[in-house]
Amino acid sequence: MVEQAKKLAATRAIDEYVQDKSVVGIGSGSTIVYAVERLSERVKKEGLKLVCVPTSFQAKQLIRQHGLVLSDLEENASLDIAFDGADEVDTNLTLIKGGGGCLTQEKIVASAAKTLIIVADYTKRASFLGEQWQKGIPIEVIPMSYKLVQKTIESRLGGSAELRMAKAKAGPLVTDNSNFILDWKFAPSVSNDWKEINTTIKLIPGVVETGLFIGMTSKVYFGNQDGTVSTL
Ligand code: A5P
Repeated sequence: MVEQAKKLAATRAIDEYVQDKSVVGIGSGSTIVYAVERLSERVKKEGLKLVCVPTSFQAKQLIRQHGLVLSDLEENASLDIAFDGADEVDTNLTLIKGGGGCLTQEKIVASAAKTLIIVADYTKRASFLGEQWQKGIPIEVIPMSYKLVQKTIESRLGGSAELRMAKAKAGPLVTDNSNFILDWKFAPSVSNDWKEINTTIKLIPGVVETGLFIGMTSKVYFGNQDGTVSTL
């Protein structure tokens, strides 16, 4: 059911937003896989001339595997559109991203795009951040700073900032940028001024980027349980 919802949302978004001769940002995660599949179908059928900019090693591989044209921000510093997934979306289109550890490159690519389109299933839709997503806000940090950042976040903002551990490797997860990830599990009582919270976190020395995406998203496509797609 969830996989079907991801596919529906991704397919609809690609059909409605991709135009010929575009530079397209390709996000990361499991939902974006369906978006790339649809993109490649359209390129084959319609002969679209697209150039794709990846947000991770995974995205780069997806672009290559589907025979799409791979580029980067050096060649294309301005993108027409970017597609990506999200871990949670609130009613203001503020996102939590980084469940897959790719938040930094995702945010850079999104910031270079004129339009950011999010594709997600119904489990990502929330009235407020933390309603559905319980794993915290991912924060990428320079490895030698992780303890200091952890302590600073916990003393300034409360909650707990946990070092994300790798699954099939001993020790912490290492990002595509060779950094660590802290998952900040904020207290329910924390202020919902996410812009201010984002600035507070970003100003801590050692922080590379946060998984809070504020004021960046143009539209979200949610695949629903009943086979329909809603937009926000
Ligand atoms: C990757 O780090 C994330 O930001 C993903 O875009 C996000 O976790 C959504 O992934 P899924 O599509 O797998 O839910």
